Order: sequence, then C-alpha cells, then structure tokens
Amino acid sequence: MKRSSSITAAGFSALSPFYDLAAEILTFGSVRRAQQDCLADLSAHAEITRPLRRVLIVGGGTGLPLEPLAAARPRVAVTFIEPAAGMRRRAARRAARLGLDVSFVADKLEDAALDSDFDLICTPFFLDLFDQPQLCAQTQILDAALCPGGLWLEADFFYRERGVGRIVSRTTIGALYGVFKVLCGIGAHRLPDTATMFKAMNYKLEMRRKRLTGMIETRLYRKDPACED
Ligand SMILES: C[S@@+](CC[C@H](N)C(=O)[O-])C[C@H]1O[C@@H](n2cnc3c(N)ncnc32)[C@H](O)[C@@H]1O
Repeated sequence: MKRSSSITAAGFSALSPFYDLAAEILTFGSVRRAQQDCLADLSAHAEITRPLRRVLIVGGGTGLPLEPLAAARPRVAVTFIEPAAGMRRRAARRAARLGLDVSFVADKLEDAALDSDFDLICTPFFLDLFDQPQLCAQTQILDAALCPGGLWLEADFFYRERGVGRIVSRTTIGALYGVFKVLCGIGAHRLPDTATMFKAMNYKLEMRRKRLTGMIETRLYRKDPACED
C-alpha cells in the first residue's frame, strides 16, 4: 500500500511568508543560489542537455527555480508539485510575473497523478526531507516520470566528511531536522544517501556545484538513455 509521508502541508504553508527570508539569512543566500545557479548552468552547458520541453519541479516552495528557468528556457511547460497552499500561491504569483507556462499540482508527490516523459526533474531541497525508505519510494515515482536520457537536478544539504566541517555540518543539519520536525512533521532525522540511490538507478553524475562550504550541493544527473521505460 502507498504510504503518504508524515510531513504537513499546513506547517510549510504557515512558514511560507517568512521562508525565503529565513533561508536567505540562515544560509547566507546559499539556498537561493543553489537553486538558481544550477539552472543557469544548464543553459551554459547546453551541449549536455537535450531539448527541454517539459519540466517537473517537486516541492518547489515559493518558486525560486522558476526565475532562472524563465531566463534560460522561457518556452518550457512546467508542472509544479507543491502541497502547501501558501507556498503555491507565492509560486503562482512568481510564474505569472515571469510569464511562464506552469501547471500547479496541490497534492503531495506520492498522491499526485503524474504523467511521464518529463525532460528535466528538479527536486530543490526536497529529497533531504525523507528517510531512506521514503526516499526510495519517492525516487521510484520520479524515475518513472523521467524520459530515458532525461536530467534530474538535485539541490540538497550534505554532510561534510572531514575535519571541523564534519562536526559543524552534522550539528547544523541535526538542528534543522529538529526545527522542521516540530514545525512541519518531518519524520527523518538524518540525511538520506541520495548518491548511492542515483548510482543504484544507473544515473550518471554530469555536474556538481557546492555552496555553504560544501554543506549544500547541486548535482545534475542523467538517466540512462538506453533504459526501458
Ligand atoms: C524544504 S522546502 C523547500 C522549498 C523550496 N524548494 C526551496 O528550497 O526554497 C520543501 C518543500 O517541499 C514541499 N513538500 C513536502 N512534502 C512534500 C511531498 N510529499 N510532495 C511534494 N512536496 C512536498 C513542502 O511543502 C515545501 O514547500
């Protein structure tokens, strides 16, 4: 049976008026930049992209990724999954201002009726909301929605492996999980291993950008072009 995650849309909705400002201050702009420069890089690395027609953004919040997308690919058709009404309203205002063609889906990913054949999937600070079993379930849904050879852009928090950074990243990320558990019902308490999961699905890492001394990373993966759909 399909299990809906414990995360409450009401919690994220209540945070939506302050979300971007809080993220901006607490991460020195890194959350915004991680979502924006990866999409800007997509156009700079046009040779690695196939023509982008359909883009899926999951847990897109107030719509920060729409800005660079509109600048790089103004004619794409975007499907934007965001269960929190406050976040969705803000993203819809942004989409209208940018003149982008965006269809909003108000369900959680696991409850949404999704088509397949997206060329690009963006999961900005979405995969790190889940523990490993939930992550596997969410990524199976997304993998089925992405066309062979399609791109998947992940932006997430990551632990640093060595030195003082290891302690700082574990403490900071642990504290963030504590806050989001109370405010939004997040059940996970540590970062899932997304890299191993992409490897197991046979995705190839094409690009990687680090922010906030490596605690935030954007990674661009490509699905195997030869895989059966
Ligand atoms: C940490 S926020 C990131 C927001 C935005 N991407 C950003 O970085 O500014 C996670 C977002 O995912 C949404 N979300 C939570 N659970 C979800 C689910 N199961 N399916 C789709 N979206 C979900 C939340 O409503 C929230 O807006």
